[in-house]
Amino acid sequence: MLPPLTRLLLGLLPLVPAPLLADMSFDEMMHEKEVEERSLTEQEFAAVQRRLEAEREEERRRLAQQEHEARLRQEAERQRLAARPLGERLVEARCSSCHPLEQVVAARHSRPGWHLTMARMHYWHGAELTWAEHGVIVDHLTQTQPATTRQSMIEYAVLAALLTAPLALWLRQQRQRNRK
Ligand code: HEC
Repeated sequence: MLPPLTRLLLGLLPLVPAPLLADMSFDEMMHEKEVEERSLTEQEFAAVQRRLEAEREEERRRLAQQEHEARLRQEAERQRLAARPLGERLVEARCSSCHPLEQVVAARHSRPGWHLTMARMHYWHGAELTWAEHGVIVDHLTQTQPATTRQSMIEYAVLAALLTAPLALWLRQQRQRNRK
């Protein structure tokens, strides 16, 4: 256990000015402090401000350029969309509410096949279409998504069967009636 006086002196040690401990004069210490805290000269201040202003200006220019490019892209996209064939735009507007457009794009049909598909969409599923739109869409899809040969043959055969079925029925009825 240290004697009380020594303890008191040790406790006061942190309060001794740094220069005394660091072998530095009081003047020297004040000078150091001054150098650290010296405010910027007017020229330096102006230079910093100019640099900040230039950076802000550069940022503004960059943003304006980006905005300009985005507007150009939007306009180009709008023109591209507007320049597409009417059929393509109609399909997009009328045929994408119930199933994804990809399902329509993936399908291939002959002309009668597209007529039948469209009729099914209209009368069976309730797709809203005018006759004019029906025609435009069928023209467009027949051109851009034609059937393979095999599918064409099947669809024409189905169509022929559908068209001749009433005739065949009528003929059979006639024959039965004649037999009686
Ligand atoms: C009211 C809802 C509805 C709308 C609108 C609609 N569809 Fe469909 N579509 C269906 C349903 C339900 C099916 C699946 C059952 C079927 O094939 O009948 C289907 C299936 C299809 C198929 C796949 C079967 C096939 O025959 O290849 C195609 C292609 C198709 N639709 C095209 C169209 C086109 C083109 C339009 C725009 C004129 C359209 N759909 C609009 C409901 C709709």
